[in-house]
Amino acid sequence: MNFQNRTVVLGVGGGIAAYKACELARLVVKGRGTIRVAMTRAATRFVQPLTFQAISGGLVLVDLFDPASEATYGHLSLARSADLLVVAPATADLVARLRAGMADDAVTTTALAVTCPVLLAPAMNTRMWRNPVVQENLAALRARGFHVVGPGAGELADGDVGEGRLAEPEEIAVAASRLLGNLDLAGRRVLVTAGPTREPIDPVRFISNPSSGKMGYAVAAVAARRGAEVTLVSGPTVLPDPAGVKVVRVETAEQMAKAVEAESAAMDLFVGAAAVSDYRPQRASASKIKKGTGEETLVLSRTPDILAGLGARWAGAKDGPVLVGFAAETEEVIARAREKLKAKRCDLVVANKVGGPGAGFGGDTNRVALVSTTELAEIEGPKEKVAEAILDWILPVLEGRRPKQG
Ligand SMILES: Cc1cc2nc3c(=O)[nH]c(=O)nc-3n(C[C@H](O)[C@H](O)[C@H](O)COP(=O)(O)O)c2cc1C
Repeated sequence: MNFQNRTVVLGVGGGIAAYKACELARLVVKGRGTIRVAMTRAATRFVQPLTFQAISGGLVLVDLFDPASEATYGHLSLARSADLLVVAPATADLVARLRAGMADDAVTTTALAVTCPVLLAPAMNTRMWRNPVVQENLAALRARGFHVVGPGAGELADGDVGEGRLAEPEEIAVAASRLLGNLDLAGRRVLVTAGPTREPIDPVRFISNPSSGKMGYAVAAVAARRGAEVTLVSGPTVLPDPAGVKVVRVETAEQMAKAVEAESAAMDLFVGAAAVSDYRPQRASASKIKKGTGEETLVLSRTPDILAGLGARWAGAKDGPVLVGFAAETEEVIARAREKLKAKRCDLVVANKVGGPGAGFGGDTNRVALVSTTELAEIEGPKEKVAEAILDWILPVLEGRRPKQG
């Protein structure tokens, strides 16, 4: 996660999970961000301000009436500097005070004065969490534009089991970086293919498949939002060009291979999400084939294997681009993905089973497995969420390789 050039203000509430806010602060520092901390009086009963001071490298605001910090209007300085305010843990009490618009301590005063987004990470006993007044307060804050992450479910510190656990620091950090418009792909060149290809039989007929292009377009859109310079080589789709993406439209597998070749010189990452036709009619008729009475035979030739071509070109090269392929399978999805990973010498295969509900061609959601030589992860949800997860997975691999100069 990249928090470079961003200031996250962390408001810590007085809950048992306050110690986990230390880990969150550390993740922001690790992501090269600036973290500044405000604590409620109750929070200081759980964690010493000195701990946050040591992690953040700055003074922690607790006392609104501290003459030293008030010499520079300390009670407003955090709010002025914030690109994002994260309240973690957001206690039931703090949620109620935020809803009421109170400004009776360092956290609520800061929250009232910020103009940036606010992310709440509630944490409390499950019975408190289920109380309608807590839910009402959160719903009102959500309606006012506050963002909420968690809580998770599981065993709570007090022995109860249920919802109310503070979201894991990693999860809060991911939500925070999303709200900040994470630019962790800045300076990277990304080439994405999407959609089907059409292999002409004659001027009015072709071989194709039902790929809508939505998954590849989502990857291109998300990569661009995360700061990458993105080129999308797209087969025929009805989708609009994603914002900030250079789109090259093609029809056939051959044209797609040529466009990829032309664009691939300085790429850092290739994501082959297109459903490229494996075969094309050996000869496309120049004129419409007339309907006859008997059988017709179509002789098919292999089309270029774009991913395998790239894999072979950079096989063993330490500075090659990260290569990601997609595999739509109807059976033995993981085994086939592993075979593809090896055969095409790529870094990751995104595999999905075609035909299941909520997955595959055409829909707005997807259910995929990310398969590498060492890992296997499953992701499900809207295609943009899946695209985010694919890019999150790729990021550490990418960070191991230098950006290409173009
Ligand atoms: C040991 C202990 C643990 C607590 N944990 C929580 C908690 O996880 N969530 C919560 O909402 N309140 C919790 N409370 C209650 C809050 O500390 C209390 O409501 C306090 O007024 C919150 O203050 P603040 O919202 O200003 O931080 C806890 C209290 C104690 C004594």
